[in-house]
Amino acid sequence: MSIARTKREKKRQLGQFLTPPPIAQQLIANLSFTRDDKVLEPSMGDGSFVIPIIEKFLSLYSGSIQTRLEKVLANNVYGVELDRELHEKCLANIKSRWGHLPQRHNFQNADFFRRHFLSANESTPSLAKGKATIPFTFIVGNPPFGGTLDPKIQDELDNEFGFRNGEKIKKETYSFFIVKSIDLLPKGGRLLFICSDTFLTIKTMRGLRRLLMNQGEVEITDLEYFSDETSHPMVVLSFVKNGYTNNIEVNGRVLPREKIELTGNFSWRVTDDLAKYFSGPTVGQYMIASSGMTVGKNEYFIREIVGGNVSEPCEFEFFDDPIDLKKEIARARLGKLSQKRVAEIRQQQASGASRRNVRVLRRSTPIEVQIPHPDYCYYNKGANEIVYTPPTHVIYWKDDGDAVITFKKNGNWYLHGVGGQPYFKREGLTWQLIAQSLHTRYLPEGYILDSGAPCAFLRQGVPRDELYFILGWTLTPPCNYLLKEVINHTKNIQSKDFERLPYPFWVSSADKREAISFVKGMVEDGLNGKRFTRSSPEISWLGAQYAFREQHLHEPEKRLVQSPLPLFEPEENLSTSFPHPVVNLRS
Ligand SMILES: C[S@@+](CC[C@H](N)C(=O)[O-])C[C@H]1O[C@@H](n2cnc3c(N)ncnc32)[C@H](O)[C@@H]1O
Repeated sequence: MSIARTKREKKRQLGQFLTPPPIAQQLIANLSFTRDDKVLEPSMGDGSFVIPIIEKFLSLYSGSIQTRLEKVLANNVYGVELDRELHEKCLANIKSRWGHLPQRHNFQNADFFRRHFLSANESTPSLAKGKATIPFTFIVGNPPFGGTLDPKIQDELDNEFGFRNGEKIKKETYSFFIVKSIDLLPKGGRLLFICSDTFLTIKTMRGLRRLLMNQGEVEITDLEYFSDETSHPMVVLSFVKNGYTNNIEVNGRVLPREKIELTGNFSWRVTDDLAKYFSGPTVGQYMIASSGMTVGKNEYFIREIVGGNVSEPCEFEFFDDPIDLKKEIARARLGKLSQKRVAEIRQQQASGASRRNVRVLRRSTPIEVQIPHPDYCYYNKGANEIVYTPPTHVIYWKDDGDAVITFKKNGNWYLHGVGGQPYFKREGLTWQLIAQSLHTRYLPEGYILDSGAPCAFLRQGVPRDELYFILGWTLTPPCNYLLKEVINHTKNIQSKDFERLPYPFWVSSADKREAISFVKGMVEDGLNGKRFTRSSPEISWLGAQYAFREQHLHEPEKRLVQSPLPLFEPEENLSTSFPHPVVNLRS
């Protein structure tokens, strides 16, 4: 690997987006320290934060610069950095700034997760749990974002930081940095971190948001500009460990816990005027959403439809593959298997056991297959279209996908499951996973689902018209705003985000009937070849039709608003009939 590439790889793995010094200086300028304070920078990089922190403490002591620096580095400032080069650079920066680096300091080249920060009289790391730790009054910095956790201790870290107050904490470097920092802080201690804004809305960070609010006061401030190295929006998280709180402050505005609770994902981006949308049922009470499957090797099984045909360059041959311990370890998660499993595999290997596998063979000349064909199903890839788009791809699906499923079962551990399988071939709605807005489309029966296009299906007993009513709503600007502002403002639109959308309970029955028939007409036009965009007049019409009007709430809808339980049961037995692309919309 080239040096530049190795550097890039290290940067990505360690989430190395260093804070420009002026930003760190400004944040530190707003803090006030006393000589009793102890400040930790848990991922100090080359010292953007450490330098202004030292500077601030120096002014609290008297004497020569050398004496003062010795006192500050011995008593007040602590740092950790995993990358040896950056650690050295940080020390060099201190030395060049003050012309001296005291022998005794607390800047370690180490993994923050492996450091126990025991007080001087309790220095046995193996006995860290329950021992007194250094009483940091501040933990400050910019934890690694999107970095990789050391695979050797990933599971251990998950056990230690992956669960708080009955909720999962996402296995991410910066969320675990926050959890460990909260654990380290004594009562009244303060945390000040620059971090990615993703943790404000996404469901997988709900546990972290709850933990923060259960343990102290939170203030979030958007950082207008961070650095040219990343365009990712960043925020400043300020936290004081003062116990359970009922409010947080976001950009100077107080946000009460009860409004946050309304959103289902405990979103910190809800506001007073948006909270009203969340006071009724959610789309998830009408539809169940699911992600699709990852094939693992699309070129083996997925074909593009060109002029009604696909070109098939492969054939598939099943065979008995002898069980082999080395191969099993190679495909296991983190390359690890339990001792019990290893013993089982050894026994299978010794007895000559085998597993059914599939071989993909290249044909000397590809064959042309006319679509539809019984060995192929339409494959629902993500598309940048709304309302409806004709199928662009098929998947080789002979014998209910035997070849694809066998290939996945023999692949790496993460391919073993078949995402969305219970919903294959059902009628529903679908959208592009990675998109700035919901590109929702009608999905006819018969499709196999790809992970790039999550889908939603009516729950059992829900009238079919709801599909159109919800499709119309998801195409409106307010729905997209709620999705991207309150529910999940990252690029991904996951199945659960869709379920968390407010259901348009405020639309009057008459307006709802009108909307349903209008959207049915749009889908029918789509099936007949018409293409829609966000600037089509139909989308403006929908925006007006679904506008929030409180006066439209009649008694039954008001009761619905108060209903805390799902209105319909999840559907277990799902049909998987063969594709038939002709759809009767007026049924
Ligand atoms: C986003 S950078 C920020 C660096 C510095 N805090 C700043 O603000 O400039 C994150 C830093 O964390 C370091 N890092 C990554 N994983 C770490 C770990 N497990 N323990 C300590 N440092 C880590 C990276 O090498 C990188 O320098």
